[in-house]
Amino acid sequence: MRSAYGRTIPTEDAALTRVGPGTPMGEMMRRYWQPLLLEGELGDGLPKKVRILGEDLVAFKDKSGRIGVLDLHCPHRGTSLEFGRIEREGLRCCYHGWLMRADGRVVEMPCEKPGYAERMDISQPAYPVHLFGGMVFVYMGPPDKMPLFPMYDIYDTRHRDDVAIVARRLWGEHAIAFVSACNWLQHYENVVDPWHVVMLHRAISGDQFASAVTRPEMPDLGFERTSLGVRYRMIRDLPNGNRMIRYVECALPNLALISSIHETGETPKAKNLCTDVSWVVPIDDTHCRALTLIAWPLKSGAPDPRWIPGTFTEIEARPGRIRERSYKERQSFPDDLEAQETQRPIAIHALENLALSDTGIAMLRKCYRDGLKAIERGHDPPNIVRDPAQNHAIATNAWITVLGPGEIRGAAE
Ligand code: FES
Ligand SMILES: [Fe+2]
Repeated sequence: MRSAYGRTIPTEDAALTRVGPGTPMGEMMRRYWQPLLLEGELGDGLPKKVRILGEDLVAFKDKSGRIGVLDLHCPHRGTSLEFGRIEREGLRCCYHGWLMRADGRVVEMPCEKPGYAERMDISQPAYPVHLFGGMVFVYMGPPDKMPLFPMYDIYDTRHRDDVAIVARRLWGEHAIAFVSACNWLQHYENVVDPWHVVMLHRAISGDQFASAVTRPEMPDLGFERTSLGVRYRMIRDLPNGNRMIRYVECALPNLALISSIHETGETPKAKNLCTDVSWVVPIDDTHCRALTLIAWPLKSGAPDPRWIPGTFTEIEARPGRIRERSYKERQSFPDDLEAQETQRPIAIHALENLALSDTGIAMLRKCYRDGLKAIERGHDPPNIVRDPAQNHAIATNAWITVLGPGEIRGAAE
């Protein structure tokens, strides 16, 4: 027996996990556009307090339609701007009425003499905003290093006309994959952990996906570097004679490209691209959320109401919100939430014993270390796009192919 007495607990790998201002990974995350919230969430005429990368911000849409993302605390005496009033010109603090435009500039100080606001020349710290597919993205990095918003093939509708782009909190309250009270990295690493699909989502808790992905036989699994990060490959020879080949990719910095978990493998198909692009966004060091752009198939020119996104995980057999389950049920049918939040608030890598099945995770961490080194040397981290000519249908590497028996024989010959 190896006694637990006197054991020491090392600290977490701060360089990879911590995301506050001035931390290595916090700097890396700030070099990219990050989704903040859905545009529709700004439609009720009230400002929204949002925490991201350890910073508290307020987002609002003024009555002229401009979206602002500002530091949360009023530059006058610190009142939270979430209680401000939205007007045509901007957001007015509730305490003494200072009015801030979407770019942060203070344009009115009603308690002061006329002209005083201009002479004071105050600007509330603000971040640039990019709107795409109904999602509000922010860039929180150095202004001179702001990249283009990357146009991946999945959602670049300049190059495909079969889908509409829909923004969702897809991994919301009902979703199996929703995790909030833990460090973002352990949640994100789950994307390239295919063995947990076999164990947690099938062997331990019963078949949670009810598809070819969670069949009882052990699949053939492999890992590889991609143009954007790391992906796993799952190959399953199905009882119907077909073969499913499924790729799931982590695209740096924090994009999860998870091919459909509902694939039945009944119909042969070639390279069916992943439909859901989810960003695993650090709220702070011990919380994260996922926001998703979905390439939603069209029917008669509108998003098909009968279609279900590839990572939609509400399961009829187990209705109810995942956070409302009893402790007993959570113990009896643990889910991603139980598995990941209990790795500790921030998983301690020095205590892990990574095995061969964790190859994807080791590869991903190496990608981050390389990215951090690139920043240290004054270079861009991976997947930064600056050339508009290159920013077209950038190839992603997550899809599903289903081969029929004839194609399998052909491939073997
Ligand atoms: S604290 Fe905001 S206007 Fe005074
Ligand atoms: Fe999972």
